[in-house]
Amino acid sequence: MNIDTAIRNAFLDLKNKNIKSALLDSEILMSKVLNQDRSKIILNLERKLDNKDYKLFRKLIISRLKNKPIAYLIGKKFFWKYEFEINNKVLIPRPDTELIIEQVLDYYKDKHKINFLEIGVGSGCIILSILKEKKYFLGKGVDLSKDSIKICKKNANKLNVNNRLKLFKSDIDNFNLGKYDLIISNPPYIKKFDLKNLDKDVYNYEPRLALDGGLDGLSEIRKVIRKSSELVKLNGKLILEIAHDQKKMVKKILNDNGFYVNKVAKDLGNNSRCIVSTKIKFKK
Ligand SMILES: C[S@@+](CC[C@H](N)C(=O)[O-])C[C@H]1O[C@@H](n2cnc3c(N)ncnc32)[C@H](O)[C@@H]1O
Repeated sequence: MNIDTAIRNAFLDLKNKNIKSALLDSEILMSKVLNQDRSKIILNLERKLDNKDYKLFRKLIISRLKNKPIAYLIGKKFFWKYEFEINNKVLIPRPDTELIIEQVLDYYKDKHKINFLEIGVGSGCIILSILKEKKYFLGKGVDLSKDSIKICKKNANKLNVNNRLKLFKSDIDNFNLGKYDLIISNPPYIKKFDLKNLDKDVYNYEPRLALDGGLDGLSEIRKVIRKSSELVKLNGKLILEIAHDQKKMVKKILNDNGFYVNKVAKDLGNNSRCIVSTKIKFKK
């Protein structure tokens, strides 16, 4: 069988299962099997596939038919300016999360060197992108999942920022190290009972620990804000990703913990998704 026929058959299978990006997914999986760029695959559609490659391709298509996300099947995802290695133990980096990077680069454009902390590093997409952008920033990262710490370390080595990064496997509740100019976090914020309404790709495959925000969706956000209010310096910043309907509640939790809200940044769909705040008072 040639590449063209294999891709066409896969496209029809995926399309029949209502997978939206059926052709793109088929081409991406073929490019994973042949270890070649997609553009090269498209230019060589008549090439014959050997049996081993065809079997591997069909295996990947069958996993995709079961809604396994493409990023887990190919083991990587592009975010900001870099490619991050991932597996199904870490959240797939989302484009909306780039809002955090944009806010950090904006608020710290004149700062040469700061100490910052990320709560819940996952693949490392946020903290490592910031370390790449700001050559003298020093980062610490915490995550409850040992698999996240492992992947984040790997990505840090690949991006060559490991000398400015320290990682800790810990529940944020038990983390008490250091004082920071800036804390960032994209915490789990989906309401427990809404998890089952997520796309099958997400619900069946992405780690619950990265998604589950408790009964009201705010339990991890509360934890992050409370702990940040102890770990951030006076006049230091906390930048958080939130769900589109959490702005009002999160602003209140921030205010109750001594933070002033500087800005609420919106995504391309005009939803409030990122809150920038400054610590202005400590508890007496
Ligand atoms: C929504 S994911 C974000 C991952 C990554 N920063 C990103 O934006 O793609 C949340 C991360 O927080 C971690 N996490 C959840 N609860 C935690 C806790 N109590 N303490 C530390 N990390 C936690 C999860 O393991 C997960 O990696």
